[in-house]
Amino acid sequence: MTLPSPRPAAAAAAPGADAFVVTGGRRLAGTVTVSGAKNSALKLFAAALLAPGRSVLHNVPDIADVTAMTAVVRHLGVDVAREAHAIERGRRADAVTLEVPERLGTHTPADLVARLRASIVVLGPLLARTGHAHVAQPGGCNLGNRSIELHLKGLEAMGADIHVGVEHVEAHAPGGLVGTDFELDYASVGATENLVMAAVLARGTTRLRNVAREPEIGDLVDFLTALGAQIDGRGTGELEIVGVDGLAPATHRVLGDRIEAGTFAVAAAVTGGDVTIEGVDPEHLARPIERLEAAGVTVRCGEDHLRVLPQAELHAIDIATLPYPGFPTDLQPQFIVLLSQAAGTSMITENVFDGRFSILGELRRLGVDAHLEGHHIVVRGPRRLLGDVVTATDLRAGAALVLAGLVAEGDTIVLEPRHVDRGYTDFVGKLRGIGAQVTRRITTTAAAG
Ligand code: EPU
Repeated sequence: MTLPSPRPAAAAAAPGADAFVVTGGRRLAGTVTVSGAKNSALKLFAAALLAPGRSVLHNVPDIADVTAMTAVVRHLGVDVAREAHAIERGRRADAVTLEVPERLGTHTPADLVARLRASIVVLGPLLARTGHAHVAQPGGCNLGNRSIELHLKGLEAMGADIHVGVEHVEAHAPGGLVGTDFELDYASVGATENLVMAAVLARGTTRLRNVAREPEIGDLVDFLTALGAQIDGRGTGELEIVGVDGLAPATHRVLGDRIEAGTFAVAAAVTGGDVTIEGVDPEHLARPIERLEAAGVTVRCGEDHLRVLPQAELHAIDIATLPYPGFPTDLQPQFIVLLSQAAGTSMITENVFDGRFSILGELRRLGVDAHLEGHHIVVRGPRRLLGDVVTATDLRAGAALVLAGLVAEGDTIVLEPRHVDRGYTDFVGKLRGIGAQVTRRITTTAAAG
């Protein structure tokens, strides 16, 4: 079979636009440290609203979503200060101080919520603290349907009166929320978080069944406990929360980002590299690590790091995304790239989001042989990838396209890098630190010309 030659001049095809420029073919090696988990830090900002006074969060990732969440809580009256690059026992502390006022605002504006869907998690804390919340509707997103009806049903069960408008959700509980027994129809991460945060100040005891068990929820429970909340059942599918009269501020370190770690693990595996990934509990990646090993990758785990070692050959595996401890949907796009280099036919079943497939067309441009059958992604490998111009459609898709660029011959230009900025602290710098040839091209007049 004759293959087209690599396209080293792909950069010229998209002059002037912001992009990652990746030159493939480097085997990654060295050590990379992950930042605090995006999906924990965002919720901890919301949780801080529950306790007037000064809370301090360490290991907060330096990402656009945290900037957006900062704007949301500032709008509610919180004074937020970031002490970037502070050194805590020899490493970056990335501390954020949140000075929460006695009197909080109750409205979140549509433009901020549109930038950050996760800001819906201020609903529970606002209701609990003020008895009133007027929160802009998070709207749709490019992962498919993302309704919030479980958040609202749970809050109603705690006595909130909720009106859903086209643009806003308005919730009242003037006499305070009341403890209740509530079973979630689905173990939604966001609904669990909203309900736990609402329940910590509710009158009496709340039992939440079929809650999500993601490690970030354990981190939230730890922070709430440090604030003075009484919560039993951490890490299980059932939480019992005894409401307290008030909470006091606290200091907490955000847990390491398992999805960032998993992304680097795939980067190492797909380039046949030898990379140690620090700052994460490998237990939080138990299922992805087990799948990597099933594909032929050697992984060694320590207490707060894992090491991915070179392998002779990758082979096909099947994956099904599921709520934790199942395989995380947030690593699905990255694993498509891995499996494009594995011998045989792999199948990935996406069970969490009904629309997390937009990356397929972009990956196919690079030579990945992957197509959709229902909600199954069928990947055939190994395939030779060739650099081209592709577009990130969301955060994890953007990261996966950069990983594909590490394997592709020639240059891969990944447009819309802002999606990746949402969730990865210094993605380019960290990849370069382990030997990747990748740069960030920022638009300037000179560059465009
Ligand atoms: N769902 C409903 N009704 C609800 C709530 C959820 O039908 O009331 C459905 C959603 O439509 C979706 C599924 O349940 O299909 C999962 O939603 P879930 O509420 O569990 O997720 P989330 O809280 O919206 C968080 C992460 C996502 C991650 C998912 C699943 C944050 C800020 N986001 O979203 O992270 O994929 O849990 O683990 O924590 C990412 O980081 O790239 C990302 C998308």
